[in-house]
Amino acid sequence: MASTELPPQEERPIGFGRMLRKEDPRFIRGRGRYVDDIQLPGMLHGAILRSPLAHARIASIDTAAAMAHPKVHAVITGKDLEAQGLAWMPTLSADVCAVLATDKVRFQGQEVAFVVADDRYSARDALELIDVEYEPLPVLVDAKKALDPDAPIIRDEIEGRTDNHIFDWESGDAAACDEVFARADVVVAQDMLYPRVHPAPMETCGCVADYDRVEGRLTLWETSQAPHAHRTLFALVAGLPEERIRVVSPDIGGGFGNKVGIYPGYVCATVASIVTGKPVKWMEDRTENLVSTSFARDYHMRGEIAATKDGKILGIRTRVLADHGAFNTTAQPTKYPAGFFHIFTGSYDIEAAHCKVTGVYTNKAGGGVAYACSFRVTEAVYLVERMVDVLAAELGMDPAELRMKNLLKPEQFPYENKTGWVYDSGDYPTALRMALDMVGYDELRREQAEKRRAHAERGSGDGAAGGGAGGELMGIGVAFFTETVGAGPRKHMDIVGLGMSDGAELRIHPTGKAQLGISCQTQGQGHETTFAQIVAEELGIPPEDVEVVHGDTDRTPFGLGTYGSRSTPVSGAATAVVARKVRERARIVAAAMLEASADDLEWEKGRFFVKGDPSRGATIQEIAMGAHGTVELPEGIEPGLDAETVYDPPNLTFPFGAYVCVVDVDPGTGVVKVRRFVAVDDCGTRINPMIIEGQIHGGLTDGVGMALMQLISFDEEGNCLGGSFMDYLVPTALEVPEWETGHTVTPSPHHPIGAKGIGESATVGSPPAVVNAVIDALEPYGVRHADMPLTPARVWAAMQGRAEPP
Ligand code: CDP
Repeated sequence: MASTELPPQEERPIGFGRMLRKEDPRFIRGRGRYVDDIQLPGMLHGAILRSPLAHARIASIDTAAAMAHPKVHAVITGKDLEAQGLAWMPTLSADVCAVLATDKVRFQGQEVAFVVADDRYSARDALELIDVEYEPLPVLVDAKKALDPDAPIIRDEIEGRTDNHIFDWESGDAAACDEVFARADVVVAQDMLYPRVHPAPMETCGCVADYDRVEGRLTLWETSQAPHAHRTLFALVAGLPEERIRVVSPDIGGGFGNKVGIYPGYVCATVASIVTGKPVKWMEDRTENLVSTSFARDYHMRGEIAATKDGKILGIRTRVLADHGAFNTTAQPTKYPAGFFHIFTGSYDIEAAHCKVTGVYTNKAGGGVAYACSFRVTEAVYLVERMVDVLAAELGMDPAELRMKNLLKPEQFPYENKTGWVYDSGDYPTALRMALDMVGYDELRREQAEKRRAHAERGSGDGAAGGGAGGELMGIGVAFFTETVGAGPRKHMDIVGLGMSDGAELRIHPTGKAQLGISCQTQGQGHETTFAQIVAEELGIPPEDVEVVHGDTDRTPFGLGTYGSRSTPVSGAATAVVARKVRERARIVAAAMLEASADDLEWEKGRFFVKGDPSRGATIQEIAMGAHGTVELPEGIEPGLDAETVYDPPNLTFPFGAYVCVVDVDPGTGVVKVRRFVAVDDCGTRINPMIIEGQIHGGLTDGVGMALMQLISFDEEGNCLGGSFMDYLVPTALEVPEWETGHTVTPSPHHPIGAKGIGESATVGSPPAVVNAVIDALEPYGVRHADMPLTPARVWAAMQGRAEPP
């Protein structure tokens, strides 16, 4: 059976294994219910007026003509919000950000006014009737100039502010690094940029706010990855009682970190609903999403790596300049302003490590979100995996061999790295060996050597200058990554003071069917299936009989939501724990039913039976009916089987993987073709291999997009040059090869079912594999590094010894 085929229904296990997604019938029939599908009686529509300038003082705003539009109900400006104390709101990173600008605008696309009208077209028309007088200010685009003494001060509304500095943060041991670097045979340094990219979910952000003036109740349908956290923040910021706020995240068309934060549109729609007494819908268009909502990355990194001459890596250190845009709206645990970047030691056994990260403001949209990664893990993995390849080139060593030599060994786990992370489990050499075997590494290197010989004979110089005379360039890129996902233990991690544990509630109906309430929120990852499979594995109730409820604060327990691949590590663990609680309750009921002692019962999936007499037993369905029926229960035992729990993870989980990418580069045009890509992943226990493969295929495609195509860039005046899918390129089936996937299974020792996260592994691991392959292809031209995205122009420029395309 090919790995993508499903087993016949009768052979499918009740629990873990391949099964079709329960949610897909509604999606493939067009019956998904997204925020923009919501229609309420009397609903109005909001639209946002955005700044055309990146930095300008607002001299005046005249809304009279817009208000006179026959279909307009309200026009809200920053001054109106100021009167209610709502013009600014706290960010998830101890900063504040403007809801609607009052004093000045700080990036192109910033929110200036909100119009509410009968329909969205009239609202848009009325935006053009608002007259804003701007006084342009000097614009700061280049993060490297942010701390210059003459740089324009972006956040001058903060009292005493005289520069654009946000934070300095360091981790590791600088002195220990100095010591190993001093005694190393080889030290190499490399500057690199992980450029600004955007999560670009297919569904843009939006909401419907419905404030009931009589009940004093707010219902907010939102494109949110974290409905519970949003509800608490709305209560804290707007002063609305939390029990009277209901946040519902219906079907979500992709999040990727873009839908974690609270955007001004959500606040404006809520204010507009309170003001008009009617429901108000606000939905972004594509350009609004790309220019104004949370971006990702934008890390200027200088890496240094130290090694012995035979390739033992001794230390790694890095200095990072982080461009956070005009407002620090990143989302990450409070203690870590650079997210989990300090896992940049990667998968290697090294003696010393140190990083220092400085965050600065620029005239760009805020963000720095974890785009399909766990809080800056992507940047960390890219840095270390590029540095290992730069070292391999310096040493003249094969990059796979260099990695194999330095990978952590299975017996070293649990392993504490030099910046304090405790990796839970892993068998790295096996995964790398598997990837190399699958791709046929030695054979590929032989093919490459032949091609390089032919290329040299035909004249590489002509190829660079004259368009292809040197023949095809072949590159092989290897990357090995360790992620740190499942944030996280409450003793270390909170977001705006909210600890990162997750609740789960499991109801067992009399007929033995179940309903699981979870706090995390799927955006397409298939939770309705996999979480039902966890209950099925633990209780033997078929997954089809388990309804998973999520995304509605009125119907689910509190928890911090879905991002950073935390659902399975945290909510998945909560699900297993609550199912086990139900099982223990079922044991007591079964004992009463079977007239046996609870200790004398044995469990087989879906059934308790009396030890030594397997015919005397009761199925979970029979027990459920008994628990709700008239079975006489021991003193103090409540009827029913329902249970709830809150899971505080003891540690994060550390999925890992070995990726090999093969590219062909046209030396005449600089066009890169990804010929093959082998991905071996380890996410511990695998709940649904089909869903895992889907997650990996998507992430790999995303990674190729970042490595070769995507960039949110700005001109000198701060105009965003990536404001549509004509400019910001999304990879399609045409740009990617047929993915070749493999896996190993190293369960997490502390997770109840041994599962680690998988949602973001491929996005994290693939960009360095692709870039390493392209740089390897350019070896005949002496290229050591070129920054993403490796567009034809950039590749061409690198071949000619220039860093940037013209
Ligand atoms: O938080 P998010 O759902 O984005 O990421 P995840 O927890 O890594 O899960 C992504 C999807 O893969 C979910 O449907 C998981 O239940 C599934 N998965 C799995 O089947 N086995 C694993 N070991 C990890 C995730």
